[in-house]
Amino acid sequence: MNGTEPSLQRVDALDKVTGRAKYAADTKPHDCLIALALRATMAPAQIASLDVSTARARPGVIDVFTHRDAERLGWTSSPEIDALSAEHLGREALGDPASKGAAFRPLISDEILFAGQWIALVVAESIEIAREALALIKVELLPSTPPRLAPIRPGPFFAGDMQYAFDTANASGPVAVCQRGTYETPMQLHQPMEPTATTAIWDGENVTLHDSTQGVQAAREYIAASLGIAPDRVRVLSPFVGGGFGSKNQIWPHEALAAHMARAIGRPVCMQLTRADMAVASGYRSQTSQIVELKADDEGRLALLRHDSHVQTSLKGGFFEPCGLNSLLLYKASRIEVSHQVTRHPISTPTPFRAPGETPGSFALETALDELACKLGQDPVELRMRNFADQDYYHNREWSSNDLAECYRLGAERIGWHRRDVNPRSHERNGRLVGLGMATTAYPAPALPATVRLVLHASGALVLETSATDIGTGMRTLLAQHVIDALAVSPSQVTVVLGDSNLPNAPTAGRSKSTASVLPAAAQACRALLAALDEIDPHPGGNVALHDRLARAGRQDFTVEGRSSGLSTNQELSFYSFGAHFVEIELDERIGRVRVSRVVSAMDCGRILNPKLAASQIRGSITFGIGMALMEQAVRHTASNRIVTDNLAEYAVPVHADVPEIEVLFTNKADLEMNELGARGLGEIGLPGLAAAIGNAVFNACGRRGRTLPLSAKVLCGQA
Ligand code: MOS
Repeated sequence: MNGTEPSLQRVDALDKVTGRAKYAADTKPHDCLIALALRATMAPAQIASLDVSTARARPGVIDVFTHRDAERLGWTSSPEIDALSAEHLGREALGDPASKGAAFRPLISDEILFAGQWIALVVAESIEIAREALALIKVELLPSTPPRLAPIRPGPFFAGDMQYAFDTANASGPVAVCQRGTYETPMQLHQPMEPTATTAIWDGENVTLHDSTQGVQAAREYIAASLGIAPDRVRVLSPFVGGGFGSKNQIWPHEALAAHMARAIGRPVCMQLTRADMAVASGYRSQTSQIVELKADDEGRLALLRHDSHVQTSLKGGFFEPCGLNSLLLYKASRIEVSHQVTRHPISTPTPFRAPGETPGSFALETALDELACKLGQDPVELRMRNFADQDYYHNREWSSNDLAECYRLGAERIGWHRRDVNPRSHERNGRLVGLGMATTAYPAPALPATVRLVLHASGALVLETSATDIGTGMRTLLAQHVIDALAVSPSQVTVVLGDSNLPNAPTAGRSKSTASVLPAAAQACRALLAALDEIDPHPGGNVALHDRLARAGRQDFTVEGRSSGLSTNQELSFYSFGAHFVEIELDERIGRVRVSRVVSAMDCGRILNPKLAASQIRGSITFGIGMALMEQAVRHTASNRIVTDNLAEYAVPVHADVPEIEVLFTNKADLEMNELGARGLGEIGLPGLAAAIGNAVFNACGRRGRTLPLSAKVLCGQA
């Protein structure tokens, strides 16, 4: 390949920074109405009385919808509709498939299952009027007794056993050291920069939705099923997404509600969720409590790795954090035991959040390993190398490629790991304690079938089209770069059109699979175009431009399709990405302020297609990890179950000043078992392990162990 620099700049950078890029809520027609929701203040409860007459009479209010208007809205609940929604994910694992009863949908009944549940939707001429009208709704809630539900031991979830114990062939000597701890992570909110929004515009029998979603085709299926119309009458557009991190991965009721309201009223409706709405209506990461028990011989070989997770979900939904997934296969303990227990609460349904399961799970496991290393008096990197899983023992398969050992080596060298003193309180800088910590990360590398269309025009313009979304990852740029390189054309010739459900099928952007799914399809399309040109113009001679060959063959344009089949057909292999985080922190113990002063992350994600975009993904994940370790925590009021930190004033996320120099290193070894490009995904792998690495560095600095996130003042100052 030749052509572009390896790090082609984001092709949509200028559109984004100048505001030309239009997001879901930017795309409002002039007669568009605004819908805002009234949220229940407590749960569980029953609506005792609800009076919307004053709100409805307010000038500028077009309509108010409550559960009493479900029929007028054509808003029903059915297992078929629920099966396509976020509420469904995981219900099977909990032994509660959709057939056994409807999942949750708002505005169906007077039962309040979680605080924040929508009681009414006001549709008005402006956001100001809508907000004012919300205050005019009179509602009385009668608290009801929470149902007493037994804890659930879920079945397989996310392609992994949630209850599993097995012995490997890896022997260890007599147990010399035991380590057991309980680790807790808080409820977290995704907080993408762009709040979720859906604008619905009907044109006769057809509806177009400008929707902030990670998956336009999944959204189309759900919305069509909800409206009771054929999917080809629904078009979902999501050309730009201002971050999702999982909150826009599964499909939520508001995406359909906008279309139902627009149909009932006969005007376009924009349903713009506030931060407070998002905290209850587009998922979150649930709190977790995990017990990790490790037993090792005197050389640090693991005799036992046990990981028990206690997690939460809603009363009717299914998603829960599968914290133990990585523990099944990341280290070669002689015996591995993983279990999960899920309890139902009057809270909204959680959803995948950047490396669901692995992120909280790795905090527990990687902290426990650090504690074990301390007890053994062994270097934490050495401990991990001693237990390096030379194959995937859980699936009993070879890795397609695993460069984790090289990640340890590269990261340790780069951060200067040899400087680290195993004894806490050994390093100081400017009156602050300095600590170094590390942790491992790993994340599966899936792929799904995808299709792209590539059109060559007489002008020389090349247009590549697919329904895939670019949620900030750089998908649009990667595709452009591939076309530019493979066809040796100039960047100005290439346009990539994404995020339209009418375009050829590509999977939802999530689970770090877009690159490995869509890029091979683009590669095939480029080859197909060249092959087709060779057929219509067999003797091009010299250096003839593609469109000249088209002209010589008497064609105006030429369209080809490219397909990828998804994951490699070699199912004898286990496809994972790996990495190692190395963190330096400075701790001002007098005021309990910790500052992450340096991060070095060495990653094995196969071949790196665009180093700048790839490093940016890892950097974003690391920033999430800093927030997770030190700041983020959604707090629920005990009596009402209401989330009190449902806004960006009280829910702290890292800002520029919190983020240090981050060095991202890639082993950049092509995984040709994965796909012809040798590339695996990397949208999530940068996050697992990072919070543990920070906690481990804090321990190295001050000698106090944080087993609960975010790290408390007690850990950081040594006092409550
Ligand atoms: Mo992601 S948490 O798989 O959208």
